[in-house]
Amino acid sequence: MKALTLFGILVAGAISIGVLYSGDSQPALKDVFKEQFMIGAALNDAVVSGKDVNAAEIVTKHCNTITAENVMKWALIHPEPNQYDFAAADRFVEFGVKHKMFIVGHTLVWHAQIPDAAFTDNAGKLLNREAMLVRLKDHISTVVGRYKGRVKGWDVVNEALTDEGEFRDTKWRQTIGDDFVAKAFEYAHQADPDAELYYNDFSLEKPAKRDAVVRLVKDLKAKGLRIDGVGIQGHWGMDYPTRENFDAFVDAVAALGVKVMVTELDLDILPSVSDYQGADVSMRAELQKKLNPFPDSLPDSMQQVHANRYAELFSMLVSQSKNINRVTFWGVYDKTSWLNNWPVPGRTSYPLLFDRNYQAKPAFDAIVKVVQK
Ligand code: XIL
Repeated sequence: MKALTLFGILVAGAISIGVLYSGDSQPALKDVFKEQFMIGAALNDAVVSGKDVNAAEIVTKHCNTITAENVMKWALIHPEPNQYDFAAADRFVEFGVKHKMFIVGHTLVWHAQIPDAAFTDNAGKLLNREAMLVRLKDHISTVVGRYKGRVKGWDVVNEALTDEGEFRDTKWRQTIGDDFVAKAFEYAHQADPDAELYYNDFSLEKPAKRDAVVRLVKDLKAKGLRIDGVGIQGHWGMDYPTRENFDAFVDAVAALGVKVMVTELDLDILPSVSDYQGADVSMRAELQKKLNPFPDSLPDSMQQVHANRYAELFSMLVSQSKNINRVTFWGVYDKTSWLNNWPVPGRTSYPLLFDRNYQAKPAFDAIVKVVQK
């Protein structure tokens, strides 16, 4: 009996090691964090179209959810008022279906990456409320309707609020009014009653913005509208957010009965532009050097600092995992991260878990250790 039990333990142990370390010594993040949250990445077209096979391999190994980095944004999927272009979005959705991933559509309503013509008539005049609502409904029912049943969750509205907690002054607001948010949620639910619907924004850890999101969610619920979650983008830095502000945000949103997701995680280790605001322009070349201090590679000591901060952030996420159901990285590996071009164009950035050669960085091991202590 005892021998049998010991044998059982050995077999179970071997199987679980086999699952975590299938083929090589690197565990799959979706298995490592299985008890906590889904793990995802934002994908560009090269990843899903077969042009970037190595990146696709990273994604299929580590992720159980994916988000469209650009191809579902208005400018790409609906470039002219009377013209839709679904080719790239279709490829993205097919990739997710093929690999049985939870597919997130990003994003239906945003002030950026949308042509000016989306808001005007043929004569270039801003549309009135009624006409803009018709256009919004057409866009949402067309896009959500096309992927009904396959895209499981939508970032319905992105970045509608300022850091001060006001509605951002955008053409959405100028044409429709503040209830463009509610209207977008209403139309999205009509187009796919089973899809989860999210509000997505950055800097939600700031108290004024947190309070505004709480008001927004309450308002949508009071109107009887469906909202399943709030996505906190998570373009984080070495000293923000603080754990205290993050916890306060997650607790406030969870108390409303909606999910919290980290939807666009990356960790910037480069100097912030604001540190050099007002710097003498005659120092331009020197300024460029300061803002792009590691054009060739990140020194080991900095890798470690980056890894430690990632571990700190993941221990914060893990401790809130009952309220957080998804953590999605904004990109797959450093070479194609948007942070190589923003907020400073052309710098060499190191925000993700995989380096320019598709290799896992110290940050990868550091976050795995958070749950495999
Ligand atoms: C970024 C993409 O990563 C870039 O490729 C694109 O040029 C600009 O947009 N917040 C969002 C994302 O919600 O859609 C943005 O994605 C990054 C900031």
